Amino acid sequence: MIFSRVYLIGYMGSGKSTIGKKLSRKLGFGFIDLDGYVEEHYGKSIPSIFEEEGEQRFRELEKKYLSEVSQLENVIISTGGGTPCFFGNMDMMNRSGVTIYLKMSVAALANRLENARTQRPLLTGLTREGLKDFIKEALQKREPFYNQAHYLISGENADVDELMALIS
Ligand code: S3P
Repeated sequence: MIFSRVYLIGYMGSGKSTIGKKLSRKLGFGFIDLDGYVEEHYGKSIPSIFEEEGEQRFRELEKKYLSEVSQLENVIISTGGGTPCFFGNMDMMNRSGVTIYLKMSVAALANRLENARTQRPLLTGLTREGLKDFIKEALQKREPFYNQAHYLISGENADVDELMALIS
């Protein structure tokens, strides 16, 4: 195996953490959820950071902690939906590990995110229709970054053995 770091990227709700945990068990690697890492090390929840310090500050913290975890060996890192789109993070991940984009349709993402909005500051207050439009617009901006990943798989039925086959 010629890599020691795998970054899972994709929109909120695409299943990065779920598949990441499974993959880490199969490979015997550690697992890091970047949002969780930020919360633990900065000592504040993501919604509180957004609310009290703003998105810009969150992006700076996200960059700082991403740089930190990119030094670790033998880890699967599940990134936040916006991580690849700021401060050259996508290039940095591509240089320091294997990147995998979990791609999902707008409809599937909207279904998954319908009941998971409270912990996601960017989505609070949106109606169901509003949620779809928001995701569609966000994907148009973000896919140019996501599409730079080394590999792309469907998040809808992501299978850990498929992932293993891709990267080993
Ligand atoms: C964000 C996604 C979230 C979290 C923050 C912002 C985004 O992570 O980093 O709420 O900009 O898409 P998940 O993709 O893990 O929900």
